[in-house]
Amino acid sequence: MQDQLSAVLAKATAELPTLKTRPEFEAAKARYVGPHGELTAFMKQMGAVPKEQRPALGKLINEAKVKLQAQLDAALAQIAAGELAAQLGPAVDVTLPSPDIGPGTRHPLTLVREEMCRILRKVGFTVADGPEVETEYYCFDALNTPSDHPARDAQDTFYFPTAARFGNVSRMNPGEKYLLRTHTSSVQIRTMLKGPPPIRIVSPGRVYRRDTTDATHSANFHQLECLYVDRNVTVRDLKALLDYVFAALLGSDTKTRFRPHYFGYTEPSFEVDLTAKHLPKVKKEWIEIGGCGMVDPTVFEAVGYDPEVWSGYAFGMGLERLAMLLYGIDDIRYFYQNDLRFLKQFA
Ligand code: DAH
Repeated sequence: MQDQLSAVLAKATAELPTLKTRPEFEAAKARYVGPHGELTAFMKQMGAVPKEQRPALGKLINEAKVKLQAQLDAALAQIAAGELAAQLGPAVDVTLPSPDIGPGTRHPLTLVREEMCRILRKVGFTVADGPEVETEYYCFDALNTPSDHPARDAQDTFYFPTAARFGNVSRMNPGEKYLLRTHTSSVQIRTMLKGPPPIRIVSPGRVYRRDTTDATHSANFHQLECLYVDRNVTVRDLKALLDYVFAALLGSDTKTRFRPHYFGYTEPSFEVDLTAKHLPKVKKEWIEIGGCGMVDPTVFEAVGYDPEVWSGYAFGMGLERLAMLLYGIDDIRYFYQNDLRFLKQFA
């Protein structure tokens, strides 16, 4: 019987380490120690063994059982380790250099912003900057937008809590209401308050509105603002500049038209449409691209310029809209999702 026991153990020693899966393991375990298992069969024979041989034989069987259990435990541990390794995937050497090196690409909004500034610099404009956290004064009051104007509604504009709520922040004026600027037109006021005309500035930047995001709206987006103040500036100058700008950016087949409109800070005011059927995905004949007009005398008075001496034009437009036209992008959300498949398409 001792030899038979050794034979069963030897068989298990050879077989158990080769098991790969839990079902294989369970089947093998049953074959050795299950109710009909080979080792169990030895125990069942004990009854037939003469009494005096039983202790010695029992000891042998027990020793075999302990050894077999150790082998079963080892086989199960090996299977569990294999399962974990399969879940983890191939080993990663974190000290290796990344395969993703190589230069990044510029964001399409950066490309359009830089190109517009380049086009405008060529005709004498310089880039001006202004803060995104603005006061009502620069964003609305100085731009002749009265306090009951719908644009100033808390539904449309992100206001900050009053200065008192922030504690004593030295750069905040307690008498002012702070907000996230709704347009870059605030930079017109900031620029004019810095010094006398002539002025010729372009100011690209981020703006904020309480809009629900969809394919054409975003609560923050980008605008580009231009202001020209000098003697004898006319609507003709404004139209000529816009024709030049859009032809330079979108191609010489691009044409613009003005539609009468109302803005508090310009008089007369227009909305600007352009036609550019040569561009990808442009199906409509006329596309609205921005607002413009001749600077309203009340705005000049607000900054201390004499409206009898100075005249000027201003316009503002959305950079996303321009980039969408230029590159044939049909959903504004692509600009903000940082999806490399999108971003890599722009050089
Ligand atoms: N601020 C306007 C807007 O956000 C755009 C605009 C209209 C800018 C007329 C101007 C202007 O400078 O003269 O919709």
